[in-house]
Amino acid sequence: MAFLDKHAILEKSPTLLLVASLGVVTIGGIVEIAPLFWLENTIEDVEGMRPYSPLELAGRDIYVREGCYACHSQMIRPMRDEVERYGHYSLAAESQYDHPFQWGSKRTGPDVARVGGRYSDAWHVDHLMNPQSVVPESIMPKYAFLADTVIDGKHIEDLLATHQLVGVPYTDEQISSAYADFRVQADPDEDWDGLVERYPGAVVSNFDGQSALTEMDALIAYLQMLGTLVDFSTFTPDASR
Ligand code: HEC
Repeated sequence: MAFLDKHAILEKSPTLLLVASLGVVTIGGIVEIAPLFWLENTIEDVEGMRPYSPLELAGRDIYVREGCYACHSQMIRPMRDEVERYGHYSLAAESQYDHPFQWGSKRTGPDVARVGGRYSDAWHVDHLMNPQSVVPESIMPKYAFLADTVIDGKHIEDLLATHQLVGVPYTDEQISSAYADFRVQADPDEDWDGLVERYPGAVVSNFDGQSALTEMDALIAYLQMLGTLVDFSTFTPDASR
């Protein structure tokens, strides 16, 4: 009871109570935040995750530029309805190379975190050219101009180097091969062994079916890899962290 009596002093003085509460919140805050300054990484490493290939990264830039995130999220929450509809819930590691991340905050259209491999390249072309041609009730805008916009990859090395600067572990070899890798991913007739070695699981295809390399190719290369890198038949969460 003696302890409670002392507590009464705090309760009767608003100023003292305020100062004491601030003290408690500060200690709590330091305990939560301070370790983050010393931890190398708070994201569990997951097998299969790798940085984006140059063409995928260019496609991702188009996704951001066009504001696809305004209608599409890229984060499957660990709730039954989402997991049944979209697949395994998203892991932190799956967006660890995203600058900025594309989790989104609104789903006018479906989540696209695992859309990779769900449709053919030709379906994506038809859908992006005119969404209503494949989904009549769709309210998604048309992006046909992407198929007419040729990209030359002039700045692709710089793009990778910039991502390296902000912490994406691109190797110098990946940066120096960026231009070749960029072109070869949309040209299955070329020698793309090096590309797939540097970016395991990269899909090589003439995505838009045209001989020119266009923004359509880049965007579809990006869409076709989304959510495909981690093998969830063997993945087990690391319970020790
Ligand atoms: C105004 C909102 C809106 C914008 C902006 C938008 N979409 Fe959509 N998207 C939708 C809707 C609604 C659907 C569902 C109907 C359909 O398939 O067209 C959809 C469907 C999709 C699908 C099929 C997903 C699935 O699992 O069936 C893909 C892929 C897609 N959008 C990609 C994109 C890309 C890439 C962009 C940017 C270039 C984009 N969307 C911009 C609304 C939007």
